Amino acid sequence: EKGTYPHYMLKETDEQPLVLRKIIQKYQNEDGKLVIDQDITDAIDQSDRIYIVACGTSYHAGLVGKQFIEQWAKTPVEVHVASEFSYNMPLLSEKPLFIFISQSGETADSRAVLVQIKELGHKALTITNVPGSTLSREADYTLLLHAGPEIAVASTKAYTAQLAVLAITAAVTAEVKGHELDLDLVKELGIAANAMEALCDQKEEMEYIAREYLSTTRNAFFIGRAVDYYVGLEGALKLKEISYIQAEGFAGGELKHGTIALIEQGTPVIALATQEHVNLSIRGNVKEVAARGANPCIISAKGLDQEDDRFVLPEVHEALSPLASVIPLQLIAYYAALHRGCDVDKPRNLAKSVTVE
Ligand code: F6R
Repeated sequence: EKGTYPHYMLKETDEQPLVLRKIIQKYQNEDGKLVIDQDITDAIDQSDRIYIVACGTSYHAGLVGKQFIEQWAKTPVEVHVASEFSYNMPLLSEKPLFIFISQSGETADSRAVLVQIKELGHKALTITNVPGSTLSREADYTLLLHAGPEIAVASTKAYTAQLAVLAITAAVTAEVKGHELDLDLVKELGIAANAMEALCDQKEEMEYIAREYLSTTRNAFFIGRAVDYYVGLEGALKLKEISYIQAEGFAGGELKHGTIALIEQGTPVIALATQEHVNLSIRGNVKEVAARGANPCIISAKGLDQEDDRFVLPEVHEALSPLASVIPLQLIAYYAALHRGCDVDKPRNLAKSVTVE
């Protein structure tokens, strides 16, 4: 039930800190240590390459998950859009392991790939919100998101839950493989949950940003580098699916290779700056678009912020910044859609779970 909330999307956005705390608890043993099924860490340990397969928002979570798994567990990862993979399968490594990410566990495009790779005799792990769903039943292993039912068509809490479960999977596998982590994940996830809560308390500010940048525009860009680029893709998807504003998530450095031609006087460019090693270069990209008339809105991490930034995120470990930085983007999309009188929970042409290929 949505209770006092006007829309499920807003309720589900607000639930994110709670869901994250629940995930931490569900994946901890009595000693407070993060654990996942040993069969799963063994399967990752024995694999020479992981193939993450998903669609839409779950695909965007997979892109961030690749960072966790490669940086912490040191296993190479490829991330694929399911509908492309099934008709254009890449050359597989010798010992592939598949990870399907799907909120519903029913997405036909992802299932088609699962059927194909099972025929080839490969193992699969499904990360899903729905116990007993098709993708869960047909895979060898399942990890649950524990996010509770997601009703709004636009996915919010499932995305951050997917990030958390992927981070935990990567960290636990790193330990099994004997790689030392440079962060205390339980502690840092707890800090991220607090940051999410603080962000959910700043709705008025997000509504203001939506009004200021998106109330009359035809289009919008979300730019970032490294993991901020992946979060930008998700921000653009949220905005287009519920507000119908044409939006594009773009890698900051790639703009000048063509897309910058679309920048006009007043074009909103929402830029994420949460990663120290690319802070200067993304700011360079913002200057490039601003010089062509864009209206930049910089959302930055505390410590990396500069004078004209529009919004500074509460402190989170740099590796976990997507858990925080996506929340302003979800809320900005929500308010932009609301201001345009769109049906936020049931956008046109879309269904919650896509069970046709
Ligand atoms: C976007 C959205 C979709 C889904 C996609 C995959 O807000 O909800 O892009 O993420 O259809 O769905 P699942 O995760 O159920 O496989």
